[in-house]
Amino acid sequence: MKVLEDVVQHLDSLDKFSSTLVTLGKSHPLHADFNQDNVYLFIQSVLSTWKSILQKKMIEECIEAWQILLEFVLAKITEGALLKHRHRKNTDER
Ligand code: HEM
Repeated sequence: MKVLEDVVQHLDSLDKFSSTLVTLGKSHPLHADFNQDNVYLFIQSVLSTWKSILQKKMIEECIEAWQILLEFVLAKITEGALLKHRHRKNTDER
């Protein structure tokens, strides 16, 4: 995934990359598919797939680091999705 590649390349300046992720979040509609349960399942599925493919090469510290990174990415995407949702709601109410 290109986005994750970009995130890894910006590990030393994640704050600056946050706004890109929030913008990406705006194309994630808040509906039945994009909710906190599915976000959690998505992270767990990615990690367990990588663990089963990489096995012993994926040490515990590595799994924890990816979990933290994926949670950060998904928190920013969710922030963007919420912003878009609120903006739409406010515009509809006018
Ligand atoms: C690492 C996490 C994720 C990344 C990097 C990611 C990235 C992307 C990208 C690049 C797009 C295309 C955006 C565009 O065309 O402007 C997209 C669309 C989409 N993503 Fe994700 N995504 C992630 C997680 C998720 C999760 C967890 C869900 C659902 C549970 C999800 C649901 C969607 C949906 C429904 C669309 C289509 C939006 C539309 O065009 O109507 N994504 N995502």
